[in-house]
Amino acid sequence: MSRQPFKVALVTGANRGMGREIARQLAGKGVRTVLTGRDPEATAGAATELRSAGLGVEPLVLDITRTDSIHAAAAEVESRFGHLDILVNNAAIRIEEYGRHPSEQPLQQWRETFETNLFGMVEVTQAFLPLIRKSPAGRIVNVSSLLASLTTHSDPSSYAYSPMFKSLPAYSASKSAVNSWTVHLAYELRETPIKVNAVHPGYTKTDMNEGAGDLEIPEGAATSVSMALLDDDGPSGSYVHRGETVPW
Ligand SMILES: NC(=O)c1ccc[n+]([C@@H]2O[C@H](COP(=O)([O-])OP(=O)(O)OC[C@H]3O[C@@H](n4cnc5c(N)ncnc54)[C@H](OP(=O)(O)O)[C@@H]3O)[C@@H](O)[C@H]2O)c1
Repeated sequence: MSRQPFKVALVTGANRGMGREIARQLAGKGVRTVLTGRDPEATAGAATELRSAGLGVEPLVLDITRTDSIHAAAAEVESRFGHLDILVNNAAIRIEEYGRHPSEQPLQQWRETFETNLFGMVEVTQAFLPLIRKSPAGRIVNVSSLLASLTTHSDPSSYAYSPMFKSLPAYSASKSAVNSWTVHLAYELRETPIKVNAVHPGYTKTDMNEGAGDLEIPEGAATSVSMALLDDDGPSGSYVHRGETVPW
């Protein structure tokens, strides 16, 4: 159990985009937040910017595709804090070319996409779970996407039913797999205080979309932050966007 008077969070892929904003919002709520990224300079720069605004943010290098980096980061969090209350698995890539047919997307992109979006998330979670078990109220937030939803993908009235969003099969399938991982881990941890949930942030104006989207970055970060700060009577194994359940 934590003997420290503050909560500790770690956010992956937090040097830019929604990850940085999730770190900013969590720190703004008084959570000691470990802002991680794979590029040391970008990670330090993002943390310095937030710290200069008075926020309790600490940089830490973490490349979620590298086992050595993951284990070094977990050891560092253990030595700094002894436990972890909140893990936000935010880092992901979208490398497929818009407009290409699913049958034409190179297999190498499938492999790279799954390496980061699924296997990286699983390995990070496995490495940090012993520290999360030491929290009295652990929370794991897996950043998914509406493109994970097979119901949405199959609905002709959905925006996902379009050449643009049907040209990201590896990205979409990796996020469907994130949802499946979420349900499995939530089941394993069902008798513990740890809650594991998947979130759809919303279509948000970040680099991943080349600035396109319906939401500004603070709005896109908000669902992840609310699930990170979930009460003890909140759900586990859910898939949500702004408090609403998203169909699998
Ligand atoms: N934007 C949207 O509309 C939208 C919609 C649904 C879901 N999402 C999800 O929301 C999350 C955040 O997306 P975003 O739009 O903020 O994307 P973004 O601006 O492209 O940021 C992605 C972040 O992930 C990091 N990352 C990539 N590979 C990594 C690795 N191996 N190790 C550590 N960090 C790595 C990037 O770091 P570098 O700077 O080093 O590349 C960057 O910090 C993602 O999970 C995304 O799939 C986004």
